[in-house]
Amino acid sequence: MTKFSSNWLQEREPIDNRSRSGKIIQNLSQILNHQPLKIIDLATGTGANLRYLCDQIKGHQIWTLIDHDEALLKEIPSKTQQWAINKNVFIEEKNNEIKIKNNEHEYQINIEQQDLSDLKRIYFPKKSLITSSALLDLVSFDWLKTLAMKCSNSESIILFSLNYDGYIDFKPYEPEDEYVRALINKHQTTNKGFGKAMGPNACHQAIQIFKKAGYNVQSSRSDWKIYQNDKNLQKLLIDTWLKAAIEIAPNEMEKLQDWGKRRLSHIVLEHSKLTVGHIDLLGWL
Ligand SMILES: C[S@@+](CC[C@H](N)C(=O)[O-])C[C@H]1O[C@@H](n2cnc3c(N)ncnc32)[C@H](O)[C@@H]1O
Repeated sequence: MTKFSSNWLQEREPIDNRSRSGKIIQNLSQILNHQPLKIIDLATGTGANLRYLCDQIKGHQIWTLIDHDEALLKEIPSKTQQWAINKNVFIEEKNNEIKIKNNEHEYQINIEQQDLSDLKRIYFPKKSLITSSALLDLVSFDWLKTLAMKCSNSESIILFSLNYDGYIDFKPYEPEDEYVRALINKHQTTNKGFGKAMGPNACHQAIQIFKKAGYNVQSSRSDWKIYQNDKNLQKLLIDTWLKAAIEIAPNEMEKLQDWGKRRLSHIVLEHSKLTVGHIDLLGWL
């Protein structure tokens, strides 16, 4: 099972927020018409998707944030409190329930620790918004089929943001970049706790599966553009990718470690820029 560190989620949150597709959010706001809107955030981590979306979609909202990782879930109140202070909105927390109020709207947030690998056990309220960020590339084809069935049975709108699509552009160029990218993408298709992961193919598959389930689907790029000054995120990425590449090609450890050293020195010298391909998906019946 893959564990996601709080540090990693914290580093990626601002990059995710600036990368998300504005077009998708605009269209989402136009098709949402239920008040109060029930929203399920699958694999919420520390709640980044909530903090980005609640302001964008307006209206009274009832959120259920689900993840299996207790330690990540425990961070949601403090992170969301800090976010509310920065935005100058009222926030109250009691027994795993958070209430946020601004001048116009109220958001009620429930936190649930649940293992999502067996999705059949999870309740999807009728006409809700089912959302996730950075999830689809971790899941299997069968899991996605179950998700599509549950979403369509509950007549829900779907928004799956920031799904990795296999594209990485390294600047400046190193001769092994393409080889390492291929290893990373192979690693992406190993089991991440939901069966054989779809990895880079996830969005393509999700579009087909949801269309088959009767959905209109819109996709839009949400690539990470990571600049010289995003040093922490770059270091974490190179470190993670190097480990993944070595897991797939242990016999090439020396060559891969050498690549990692050169990439890290580009980061330290502030020469390094990365683009990482992501796709946002919106769907409605
Ligand atoms: C890439 S992180 C994304 C977290 C969050 N959505 C964000 O954008 O910051 C993937 C999340 O999936 C969660 N996850 C992985 N396997 C899970 C499972 N079987 N059940 C529930 N959550 C799971 C992890 O704990 C982690 O929080």
